[in-house]
Amino acid sequence: MNNFVIRGDICYSTDKATINTIENGYAVCENGISKGVFENLPIEYSDYELFDYSDKLVLPAMSDLHTHAPQFAFSGLNMDAELIEWLSSSAFLEEAKYSDLGYAQKAYSIFADVLKNSVTTRACIFATLHKDATKVLMEQLENTGLCTFVGKVNMDRNSPDNLCEESSDKSVEDTVLWINETKDKFENTKPILTPRFIPSCTGELMKNLSEIQKEYNLPVQSHLSENKDEIKWVQELCPDSKNYGDAYDSFGLFGTDAKTVMAHCVYSSDDEVELMKQNGVFVAHCPASNINLSSGIAPVRRYLDNDLKIGLGTDVAGGHSVSLFRAIADTVQVSKLYYRLVDENAKPVTFNEAFYLATIGGGEFFGKVGSFEKDYEFDAVVIDDSVLPHPQALGVHERLQRAVYLNADFKGITAKFVKGKKVI
Ligand code: GUN
Ligand code: FE
Repeated sequence: MNNFVIRGDICYSTDKATINTIENGYAVCENGISKGVFENLPIEYSDYELFDYSDKLVLPAMSDLHTHAPQFAFSGLNMDAELIEWLSSSAFLEEAKYSDLGYAQKAYSIFADVLKNSVTTRACIFATLHKDATKVLMEQLENTGLCTFVGKVNMDRNSPDNLCEESSDKSVEDTVLWINETKDKFENTKPILTPRFIPSCTGELMKNLSEIQKEYNLPVQSHLSENKDEIKWVQELCPDSKNYGDAYDSFGLFGTDAKTVMAHCVYSSDDEVELMKQNGVFVAHCPASNINLSSGIAPVRRYLDNDLKIGLGTDVAGGHSVSLFRAIADTVQVSKLYYRLVDENAKPVTFNEAFYLATIGGGEFFGKVGSFEKDYEFDAVVIDDSVLPHPQALGVHERLQRAVYLNADFKGITAKFVKGKKVI
């Protein structure tokens, strides 16, 4: 039995607008599941092991809905291009290196270590088209104790010769081999179907991937409406589609059969948003990437008002940081620019709303994840915010805001639990 109690200053969202904070509270875990948060420890839990994190912040599961493991190696570099040029001049050059398993071992072990020591407990991760290197990544992630979905990327057109699958058949063959080798191999690391985006996948490949999705009942991740030139290109490639999302939908890869997450959605039209809502497609909002690649500002207020499923993504290395704390602050900041420069009816996203997106919003992709309320899977991140000294005593909510905005995660992660297992 894996039963324990965490004592500390506990913060979690109860709805989009509200963060509940309990100073010197108790979060109880029974067999990996939360029994709730208490001001005083109920007698029935008094013999559970106690982790005493008094004076530290205790946060729930934080989910990164979109990132690229192989791109971590060039994060912070080559930030002066827009998407299509950046793919050719940076991303594809780096990803081609993962045909070398020695390189993959080395690079992925650095990524896995950095992710383990971040606030992230759950993540949706792109690998590359190389099935063996993708297995290496999955092994390394399994060793971290984090819970992740990992995708071998599919791409069989409009890509450089050294990073393009030779045919749709070869892409399918490798994908099926990779799924069969990994789907039951790991406890916490699972395959997710990953067509890179419409421009890099032929119609034949997309149809085949939809068949594979149904046969293996896999979730799906991809990119959607990130950049204006990209959207124009998709319209040329799929002239019959009503919008970019409809192009995925026409291949059966837009949420009707599978849990699906689409990164960006910066320029989604009203009918695309309607389709996402109908089909339960998750949005991965990636503000840092949208700034770095000059993509634009996603209308998060509109998605919140429409009750779309939405969480945050770091999109390394379009985004330069693996930190979800940074993504929370970026979400608030870009929403203010959107409000001031684009639409004064779109109220800025509040800190509490952005925190909700990083926890419950994204957590929903992984199940009942992202809160300490009863019956949620028990993840916890313990932050020592005394690394950010302050001349006065602050309330827990103020300390949480400082910890996020001032990146206490860079120095102050004391402990981390995933599904009730201590990983740091
Ligand atoms: N669209 C297709 N591939 C990519 C990628 O690697 N990063 C981003 N940000 N967008 C993409
Ligand atoms: Fe991406």
